[in-house]
Amino acid sequence: MDGKVAVVTGIANKRSIAWGIARAFEREGAELILTYQNDRLKENLDKLIEDLQRPAKTVLLDVMNDDLMAEFTESLDKLAPSGVHSLVHSIAYANRADLEGRFLNTSREGYTLAQSVSSYSLTELTRALYPSMLKAKEASIVAMTYQGSTRVLPNYNVMGVAKAALESSVRYLAFDLGRDHIRVNAISAGPVKTLAAAGVKGITAALHNTEDRAPIPENISTEDVGNAAVFLSSDWAKHITGHILFVDSGFHILGY
Ligand SMILES: NC(=O)c1ccc[n+]([C@@H]2O[C@H](COP(=O)([O-])OP(=O)(O)OC[C@H]3O[C@@H](n4cnc5c(N)ncnc54)[C@H](O)[C@@H]3O)[C@@H](O)[C@H]2O)c1
Repeated sequence: MDGKVAVVTGIANKRSIAWGIARAFEREGAELILTYQNDRLKENLDKLIEDLQRPAKTVLLDVMNDDLMAEFTESLDKLAPSGVHSLVHSIAYANRADLEGRFLNTSREGYTLAQSVSSYSLTELTRALYPSMLKAKEASIVAMTYQGSTRVLPNYNVMGVAKAALESSVRYLAFDLGRDHIRVNAISAGPVKTLAAAGVKGITAALHNTEDRAPIPENISTEDVGNAAVFLSSDWAKHITGHILFVDSGFHILGY
């Protein structure tokens, strides 16, 4: 990824999947623009980037804040004068109350919130980066998903529905942007103990499940996801688009 500029969203701390991806991108030569959701998370990010070989740029971006989205869009020419080659969408949120108990009780407000933050933001961010990606001539977008999009996992509830919409958005964006040589894919990761995952009851059981039943009986690391994201964002994946790549030790093939 030498000479490529990558925007990576969603680093909250060192356990974040996005941090594993950012480190893998950096290792492979990419220049990083890292977004953070709020000032509290900026402190974490500033400490983390001290470990990188090259300086990374950091930008405040809350996808629910229209003013910040507009500022981010306007700043892209300055941040990446020759264009952005890669976007990593690693953002999800739902109210805790909607991540436990009966799906039946999901409120309209909670449903809309989960969709806006976790799914719609992919389309919105893609639109913001579109002119910059055209400038780069070829670009790749990678979103993070989970198998709760197509299978029922107790408590994943509203997030499963948001991930289904996210995966569908990946396909529609891939169709829409293919003519511009912008590829859009997602990685469906196995469970990882992160801040977001801690909000879902049953994450510990999911981790044990992988160790007990997956074809490769071990849990994945954020480095594994980073390596897969490098592949999808590199020229090696030049004609791969609209694809969901599982990095889950093979768990998704099980029928029992
Ligand atoms: N951890 C897992 O088991 C797992 C498995 C598969 C997929 N995923 C997905 O990976 C992605 C990253 O999650 P993670 O597990 O690394 O957790 P994480 O908590 O480290 O990352 C979630 C990120 O979303 C960001 N975010 C939330 N609301 C936002 C907003 N309004 N604007 C901007 N950013 C916002 C947070 O700041 C945080 O950095 C998510 O899409 C998640 O659903 C996680």
